[in-house]
Amino acid sequence: MQQAIAPATKTTHFDVERVRAYFPILSREVNGCPLVYLDNGATAQKPRQVIETVDRYYRDQNANIHRGVHHLSQRATSAYEAARETVAAWINAPASHQVLFNRGTTDGINLVASSWGRTNLRPGDEVIVSTMEHHSNIVPWQMICEEREAKLRVIPVSDKGELDMAAYADLLGERTRLVAVTHVSNTLGTVNPVREIIDQAHAAGARVLLDGAQALPHMRIDVQALGADFYAFSGHKLFGPTGVGILYGREELLDAMPPYQGGGDMIERVTFEKTTYNTLPHKFEAGTPNIVGGIGLAAAVDYVAALDQEALAAHEQDLLHYATGALESIPGLGIVGTAARKASVISFNIAGQHPFDVGTLLDQQGVAVRTGHHCTQPLMDRYGIPGTVRASFAFYNNRADVDALVDATRRAVDMLS
Ligand code: ALA
Repeated sequence: MQQAIAPATKTTHFDVERVRAYFPILSREVNGCPLVYLDNGATAQKPRQVIETVDRYYRDQNANIHRGVHHLSQRATSAYEAARETVAAWINAPASHQVLFNRGTTDGINLVASSWGRTNLRPGDEVIVSTMEHHSNIVPWQMICEEREAKLRVIPVSDKGELDMAAYADLLGERTRLVAVTHVSNTLGTVNPVREIIDQAHAAGARVLLDGAQALPHMRIDVQALGADFYAFSGHKLFGPTGVGILYGREELLDAMPPYQGGGDMIERVTFEKTTYNTLPHKFEAGTPNIVGGIGLAAAVDYVAALDQEALAAHEQDLLHYATGALESIPGLGIVGTAARKASVISFNIAGQHPFDVGTLLDQQGVAVRTGHHCTQPLMDRYGIPGTVRASFAFYNNRADVDALVDATRRAVDMLS
């Protein structure tokens, strides 16, 4: 939640060096330099607990779930369903069957667009997204709007990278069926006022889906306090394995929605005349899932939950402010996204230089950042730029990582000029 972002001035007691020791990859070298991993927005590194859980599962436990009476299948089923409980408790879902496992945020959004959208959108209805959305929260809505003859409306973004809330209020109307916005912008780091967005949408009779992919890694989320109708996020950005994600939904909405995919596990009874469907969450989980992914994600949640959340948030805000100040001192460097409320994500450009060239020179110095449009091309068009260099920090980054980024960027600027 937004309240979880601590002010920059708060004293932190976050023992980052102790935390770093749990992430084996952080001690490796890249291109002959110590790795400085600042591409956490793309995927986060994994603590030993997650790596060991995955290893142990395949060595000792591997079997398919919900299908076998044999010992291993029963154990795997229990571990998988316990993982669902762990995730449900972490986001404060009212019940674990409202927590659907899937492949990731993109999969969750596509499920809602396809299942909820196909059932609820009528010609002339409207879906609202924002200019700062990831393509994953634009294209599924474009596709379903085209199919259902509904209209996609777009909340504009200011020069600083904040949503135009007055324009949002104007867009909301009796034709609005759903608002789909990101909780935290992957490109700008902006933390959106999602409580306000949800309250206003609900007052207009619309549903809200939040893309939480970039929020969960930085802040504690309480889906009930937020009041979101749907909340989607990915395991791999939350220090868990790739290929697993979560869609939370309100029970009455999920109950009323038809299955997204057909196959094993999602049925109650199949005949050629008529098939009936399983209850939640299985109705939306066709086929053998990413079993170890779910169990590994729960290990990641357990790891993060054991950290001091307030100190963690303060530490990340310290990194954000320290890095912002240091980067701004580099001649020709401009930060893209200067919202008042930001997670620890900094996009920037160097005057006259292409982001790819800067990113390549940073990589040669062991600094991993993402360059390009970050799957937010409409946002790039809004700012009239081809892309940015993006440094995205996790709680295991430290001020030495920031110093390395700034030094490497200065050297890149020298080499390119
Ligand atoms: N959506 C991820 C990012 O922003 C991959 O890098």
